[in-house]
Amino acid sequence: EFCKGNNGLDKIVLRESRGSSAEVYLYGGHVTSWKNDHGEELLFVSSKATFKPPKAIRGGIPICFPQFASHGSLESHGFARNRFWSIDTDPPAFPTNSSSKAYIDLILRPSEEDLKIWPHSFEFRLRVALTPGGDLMLISRVRNTSTDGKPFSFTFAYHTYFSVSDISEVRVEGLETLDYLDNLQNKERFTEQGDAITFESEVDKIYLSTPTKIAILDHEKKRTFVIRKDGLPDAVVWNPWDKKAKAMADFGDDEYKHMLCVEAAAVEKPITLKPGEEWKGRLELSGVPSSYCSGQ
Ligand code: BG6
Repeated sequence: EFCKGNNGLDKIVLRESRGSSAEVYLYGGHVTSWKNDHGEELLFVSSKATFKPPKAIRGGIPICFPQFASHGSLESHGFARNRFWSIDTDPPAFPTNSSSKAYIDLILRPSEEDLKIWPHSFEFRLRVALTPGGDLMLISRVRNTSTDGKPFSFTFAYHTYFSVSDISEVRVEGLETLDYLDNLQNKERFTEQGDAITFESEVDKIYLSTPTKIAILDHEKKRTFVIRKDGLPDAVVWNPWDKKAKAMADFGDDEYKHMLCVEAAAVEKPITLKPGEEWKGRLELSGVPSSYCSGQ
């Protein structure tokens, strides 16, 4: 279903027969909503989000490409999140996803202007799908389409903003004892100590070579998010906390309490593609009642 979203921007609404839904804006190839079959929103979007290009939408799932954060000379998080994507009318076959009927295929190719700031021709194909069980699936395929014989490298993240009841009651599992780069300490490398990760102040860390499965446990909502990823070795964990929240114009002062970014990413080791080569990065999210997960 194709319709107008905030500020007249085009969006696609996906609906699965059991009631779950998702919304994807062409602006940014940006998922802004994912609801379970009870109609509960599982992603966080700021009440102050502007939906005004060229600003990226604050919340949902911004696509960071071809650069994560300031790991390079481009604007922070690259340009894919503030370009207008198109519907991909000629998508490749996606054999892993044959059971889903609720999906959309988008494509981004660089404009002349983009080629001036990042001189590499590419095709970025994005499939957003809902599974019959209400899981949200994103598959990115980036191909080097240049004819100059040159490889290119990029970093990437699905900058997912999860909606949580109270950040101080939330726990992340799957990242214990891993090495991380701390953005709040000059990107220095540390090793995570102790048990599951909890939150009591600003956090901005890139966990390296993580397992393919990470969980966010929200006790108050009795919900667990399970993140499964493929082709994306790293995981960024970000919460701006109170001071940074106040400094962001498109983010409410207290909203940091109700969101957490856990981002499937490839940052430490950039991905390099020779002409004709393709990279695939897959993200699958489920939001399940906690009892379902206990003991797993
Ligand atoms: C996170 C980064 O992924 O995104 C943070 O690790 C950054 O350093 C945050 O502040 C938000 O970025 P932006 O550009 O959307 O404000």
